[in-house]
This record gives sequence, C-alpha cells and structure tokens, in this order.
Amino acid sequence: MQIIDDPSVIQRRCKSLRRQGKTIGFVPTMGAFHEGHISLMRRARADNDVVVVSIFVNPIQFGRGEDFDSYPRDLPDDLAQTERVGVDLVFAPSAEAIYPKGFQTHVDVTGLTEGLCGVSRPGHFRGVTTVVAKLFNLVRPHRAYFGQKDYQQSVVVRRLVADLNFDLDVVVLPTVRETDGLAMSSRNVRLTSQQRQAASILYRSLCRAEERVNAGERSAKAIIEEVRAMIEAEPLARIEYVALCHPDTLQPLDRIDGPALLALAVRVGETRLIDNVLITLP
Ligand code: PAJ
Repeated sequence: MQIIDDPSVIQRRCKSLRRQGKTIGFVPTMGAFHEGHISLMRRARADNDVVVVSIFVNPIQFGRGEDFDSYPRDLPDDLAQTERVGVDLVFAPSAEAIYPKGFQTHVDVTGLTEGLCGVSRPGHFRGVTTVVAKLFNLVRPHRAYFGQKDYQQSVVVRRLVADLNFDLDVVVLPTVRETDGLAMSSRNVRLTSQQRQAASILYRSLCRAEERVNAGERSAKAIIEEVRAMIEAEPLARIEYVALCHPDTLQPLDRIDGPALLALAVRVGETRLIDNVLITLP
C-alpha cells in the first residue's frame, strides 16, 4: 500500500494505472474508519483492479460553529485498516495542498441541496461537491463508492456526475449498523454511554414507521408525527428534521404511493446524527 499526500503525484499514479488498462475503484472519506467505511472499501476491492481511498477532513464542508476542529482523526489506525482490506493507494493530502492560496472555484449543485440537511448546514453540500469533483479529477476512477447513510449526499453526487459528465459509475451501498440499529458514524465516539443508548431511538423510530406503512398507513403526516413522537419521548434527543420525500427528487411527499425516503437528523447532546430508510410499498 502506498500513501500519497501530493495531488500531482496521485494524479500521475492513477493516470498511469488507467493507461495500463486497470480499473480504479475510489472511496472518498474523512477517515476515523468504522465498518461503514470498510464495507465500501471491500466492495471496491471486489469490483476493481486498483482501490484508492482518500482521507481528507474537508474544511470547506464544515460551517462556522460546526465540528471541523474536533472531528475525530486517527491516521495511523486508518492506515492499518486500509492495509488490512488490501487498499492499493491512500491519498491523504493537507488542506493547503487541496486549497492552495488563491483557490476560488466551487462546484454547486442547486435544488437537491436546499432541503433536508441543506437547511441547517448552508454551504455544506457545496463543500462536498467541490472536493468530490477535485478528487474525481485527481483519481479519475471507473467507480466511486458512497454510503446510503448520507443519502442526500449520494443523490447530490449522482447529480454532479451526470451534470458535469464525469465518466464514472456511482455505487451506493447500504448503511452498516451497530447491533442496536444505530447507523455507524465517525461521530458516534463522541456520545456518552447514556447518549449512546438514547441514540438507538433514531433507527427504532424509522423501523416503527416502516411497520406502519406495511400495515397500510399512507399519510406522510401520520408517519412523520409518529416518528417525531417517539423521538420527542427521549429526553436526550432533539429533532432537527423528520422528512418523507421522493428518493430521487427529495421533494416532500404528502402520501406514499411509490418509493419513499424517510430521513431524519437528530441531535443527541451536542452530536448531530442522521439516518434514513428507503420505503417500498409491500
Ligand atoms: P465520511 O463521513 O468519512 O464518509 C465516507 C463514506 O462512508 C460516505 O460515502 C458515507 O456515506 C459512507 N458511510 C459513512 N457511514 C456509513 C455507514 N454506517 N454505512 C455505510 N456507509 C457509510 O461522507 C464523507 O466522508 C464526506 O462528505 C466526503 C464524501 C468524503 C467528502 O468530503
């Protein structure tokens, strides 16, 4: 496994691999790995000749007052894990290398980024799409892997790839969960044991909603109210949003009459957690 911090070096290396006819699978990350990240790397390993993982805590996708400074970082442990999975190249640049003095170009997907997490995190997706576009240009992967846990991000990246004609396939893989259902997240380590227990309400409420749909409920209002009531009954949890929307357009739904995305963001203590389920009618 080779570790590269220089953008021009990773670009040259990937270009040469591509020229040799190798397929390149790419997993962009911010590090602090858990099984969710690892599942993407394993799939990339199975699908491609070469696996590239980037580890970069992207400053421009964090808003003022968000947790950029305290975002969990553990490069030595991350490298041990990528090595175990059989990753070929790790790209771990500095912020100065990615955003050198004078940098002034951003990539902005409109529409899809306005609702859900876009409401409380203005500029977040612009930061994500800007760095992802840069990473795609450096690595030029054949396939790029994302997790359903950040559902809105995956839809926004698909839009970016289609709109700017990036020549690659976006592969979105299921959310990996702890045994009590909590979606794995680098931020989970911040939860106290009491908060950690409380956090299981996110997935429990999503499952309850699925049961209601399976039992015939079709009203978005009724489903959202039930999810809200369950979370509000947990004193350590504060809802940011609970939304039922179309899985492709992310537009709110009044009734479920086809595929639907039930997504939520909840603060447990100071830690902001997100989760979602895709609902298909029985
Ligand atoms: P990060 O939060 O490190 O996540 C990297 C990838 O892992 C994302 O595609 C995310 O959806 C996926 N992931 C996280 N938790 C997961 C889980 N429990 N199950 C399955 N996949 C999971 O997302 C980012 O970094 C950044 O925004 C990035 C795309 C790297 C741009 O900076």
